[in-house]
Amino acid sequence: MNDGVKNYYSDLDIANRALAALGPGVEITPDTLASMDHFHGRGLEATRELADLLDPKRGEHLLDFGCGIGGPARWLAAHFGCRVTGIDLTAEYCAAAIALTEATGQVDDVCIMHGNVMETPFEDDTFDRAYSQNVVMNLDDKQRFYREAFRVLKSGGVLALSNIGEGPNGAPYYPTPWAESAETSFLSTLEETIGDLLACGFEIQFIEDTMPRVRPLVTETLKRLETEGFPDRNVAVVLGEHFKALQFNSIRSIRDGRTTLIEVLVRKPYQ
Ligand SMILES: C[S@@+](CC[C@H](N)C(=O)[O-])C[C@H]1O[C@@H](n2cnc3c(N)ncnc32)[C@H](O)[C@@H]1O
Repeated sequence: MNDGVKNYYSDLDIANRALAALGPGVEITPDTLASMDHFHGRGLEATRELADLLDPKRGEHLLDFGCGIGGPARWLAAHFGCRVTGIDLTAEYCAAAIALTEATGQVDDVCIMHGNVMETPFEDDTFDRAYSQNVVMNLDDKQRFYREAFRVLKSGGVLALSNIGEGPNGAPYYPTPWAESAETSFLSTLEETIGDLLACGFEIQFIEDTMPRVRPLVTETLKRLETEGFPDRNVAVVLGEHFKALQFNSIRSIRDGRTTLIEVLVRKPYQ
């Protein structure tokens, strides 16, 4: 399963494409890169919403599960004054994340590691807060991941999740940005997500099926992309032209109720 996931994401030269797209004279910062290095629907806007939920504090140590090419990690470190460690399964994404972190001059605040979120190398009770954006749909055993997140969080620490979930109207349109076929796509409903998190010991602070508010937004985005095309600096510049078709499939899946977006904040109880 993991090989299928890695092969699907795998790509070389990502960092160079991102830096070339910025062009000469543009300062390389988490904000100037943001339209290209947040690898999930609604990009930076969705990361801002996650940050509101996570509420990180200056000096805290955060963990980003499935950090991709590190855009959210760099952005949170820069805007909230925290240290962020990111872990990701795809070696090429980790290499790009490290190169871009060097380019933004954030190596003291952002640390990227190659590894599996199901089995991380971190000590128990290490992180103040943790988050994961658009990753659990690649995980066939979600409870194993949630137990790992519980283990590495400090007592009272919180985990914010932004998960693509199962919609009521059938399977997503494949290929999606996260999977070529159903073989590596594992979507849960809101109820299953609640059950899994409670089974792993978390207390639920907040959970929302964001579909009612997100659906009109993505429908608008779809119309704009169909008429005006993609903006110059978009994720497809970095991840490849083929990514545009995947984004269209993802947006249409939300529009047609085949997927949904579930936002979560859970706490490891104080011990
Ligand atoms: C859609 S991308 C999201 C990346 C990042 N969270 C973001 O929002 O910019 C999904 C990421 O999950 C990673 N991933 C999938 N399964 C994983 C696993 N078992 N352990 C670590 N990373 C994983 C992939 O390599 C990919 O980078």
